[in-house]
Amino acid sequence: MLDTPASAAVTADPIESAMRQVDALIRERLRSEVALIDQISGYIIGAGGKRIRPRLVLLFSEALGHVGPARLELAAIVEFIHTATLLHDDVVDESALRRGRATANAAFGNAASVLVGDFLYSRAFQMMVSVGRMRVLEVLADATNVIAEGEVLQLMNMHDPDLAVDEYLRVIRYKTAKLFEASARLGAVLGEAPPEVEEAAAEFGRSLGTAFQLIDDLLDYEGHTDELGKNVGDDLREGKPTLPLLLAMERAGADDRALIRDAIEHGEVQRLPQILEIVRRTGALEATRSAAAQQAERARSLLALLPAGAAREALLELCVRSVHRSS
Ligand code: IPE
Ligand code: IPE
Ligand code: MG
Ligand code: MG
Repeated sequence: MLDTPASAAVTADPIESAMRQVDALIRERLRSEVALIDQISGYIIGAGGKRIRPRLVLLFSEALGHVGPARLELAAIVEFIHTATLLHDDVVDESALRRGRATANAAFGNAASVLVGDFLYSRAFQMMVSVGRMRVLEVLADATNVIAEGEVLQLMNMHDPDLAVDEYLRVIRYKTAKLFEASARLGAVLGEAPPEVEEAAAEFGRSLGTAFQLIDDLLDYEGHTDELGKNVGDDLREGKPTLPLLLAMERAGADDRALIRDAIEHGEVQRLPQILEIVRRTGALEATRSAAAQQAERARSLLALLPAGAAREALLELCVRSVHRSS
């Protein structure tokens, strides 16, 4: 069962040394003659991050028997794409804190953040070409395109209290789950997995990524800024209709519903405590967590198609942790 964190067996990390190599490669590939690029990309990458997407590449390729150098390159590539989306996302969301420090936009300005995000995207594409496999290019070109669609869709949904839950789910599938999907799929592609295993890997990534974003949206209400390294309440300030609010509106009485509608329509910081109380009281936070747990359970069930071993165990642990996390 995924509901109890205690069920996560603590096992040795089968890709610890490969992850260190990925970190070294990331630093090497970041290099640019342009000082401001070095400075900003080093600033955000050096702040850490959980490195989940590169872990997916490495764990799937390891589970499927590929341990060549291409896996390190692909792991670095997905982290570059992720980092580029964060640089852009923080500008769009006007966020001030990321990974426990001032966001790049707060520290260096919007223009520099957007442009360095472009640098990271295009560096990632140079690296993809260096891998020399059309299938890899195809998977990553599709993923980056869908992520951009997700962010634009989300922009269109801003301040809309009537957003349907399915539309919300589409946004998170595009903006977040797609890169998880691509990362897992690439591990399978490297492992030359049969089509049904590649599809299972892709669906694993999609489900895990969906669970992950659902929890991100939950933590924006009930998380703690110091643990998250991001400011809690940003989504409400922006008027972003995420699942905790959509479910609370379905369940609340007329007055509370009107308050939430107003907060989404106008963006709200003052009433965060009041809205948090409604979201808690209506069970919307628990319902969001249970939607995430369902997705994580779906992901877990797909692991049956992988050979048993330490990599599969580590993927299982990722499923558990994606639901029970505070950062
Ligand atoms: C943040 O992703 C953006 C979302 C998709 C929620 P992560 O939570 O993986 O960010 P880092 O890399 O660990 O900082
Ligand atoms: C995820 O959405 C953004 C991307 C996938 C780029 P959020 O806007 O919720 O991510 P955070 O909370 O800023 O990390
Ligand atoms: Mg954001
Ligand atoms: Mg968020």
